[in-house]
Amino acid sequence: KHNFVNIQGLDREQLLYLIRMAQEFERHPNRELLKGKVIATLFYEPSTRTRLSFETAANRLGARVIGFTDAKVSSVSKGETLKDTILMVSNYADAIVMRHYIEGAAQYASEVAPVPIINAGDGAHQHPSQCLLDLYTICQTQGTLENLNIYLVGDLKYGRTVHSLIMAMRHFNPTFHFIAPKELAMPEEYKLYCREHGIRFEEHEAFTPDVIAKADILYMTRVQKERFSDLMEYERVKNVYILRRDMLSQARPNMRILHPLPRVNEIAYDVDESPHAYYIQQARNGLFAREAIFCHCLGISLEQIRNDRTIIR
Ligand code: CP
Repeated sequence: KHNFVNIQGLDREQLLYLIRMAQEFERHPNRELLKGKVIATLFYEPSTRTRLSFETAANRLGARVIGFTDAKVSSVSKGETLKDTILMVSNYADAIVMRHYIEGAAQYASEVAPVPIINAGDGAHQHPSQCLLDLYTICQTQGTLENLNIYLVGDLKYGRTVHSLIMAMRHFNPTFHFIAPKELAMPEEYKLYCREHGIRFEEHEAFTPDVIAKADILYMTRVQKERFSDLMEYERVKNVYILRRDMLSQARPNMRILHPLPRVNEIAYDVDESPHAYYIQQARNGLFAREAIFCHCLGISLEQIRNDRTIIR
């Protein structure tokens, strides 16, 4: 059983293999490799991109999709445990995509489920499918994953996408710059992870044009309101960094701005017209990355994808 629960469980070769699979799907997204399969999507937290791109990926591969987008309409509202829910849904589906507000929920589900579990985000912990689409996008825009200057900006405390990205990039000799206010600084455990794996990083509080002038990737994040126990604290930091178009004057020509989205106020709308903006294409890549993840979990190889004759052009 191949789960897709955390990104650190994948080595360099496996990540590059998944990227090659996603490249195949970008060329030909419609195939019938999952015909006859059922995919369940269980979302205990809101989502637009992750759920819809997973469901689109399943549909484009010929699978059928079941699930809920609001646990209140399921028997969770009657007190059914996560374990029982996962065991029940395993009776109906060949793989389960789940987003949960508790850190480690997907790992726990993977230990009780007889079918593969795909983590679509667990609390402030990890977002491995977002990470794969981020790697794919970085590779697509820079032509490589190696030796890049990656600037992570905003809520580095609660932003699960940046936590997964650090762990995946350890294979590719990055230099990270963490730009955050003290209240939202990168947690010690991820800085320790960097030190243990020889990942260079610097920390900044200033978010100014000269600070980001050497960036290859400027990865903006939203302040995660839903993770704050004290909303006054959120109010104090919510608009801490806003990227405006005039701040890009010193940027490298090939620098690209990524954001896992949704944005609230972190990127001014006039930045969308800048050649550096790439977050809409990044979200599109989620479809190809998630098609690759289904193949990984359901035992379909790159060779099978390349030899597939059911391509719908
Ligand atoms: N990037 C991301 O996880 O978006 P959604 O919350 O809309 O799924």
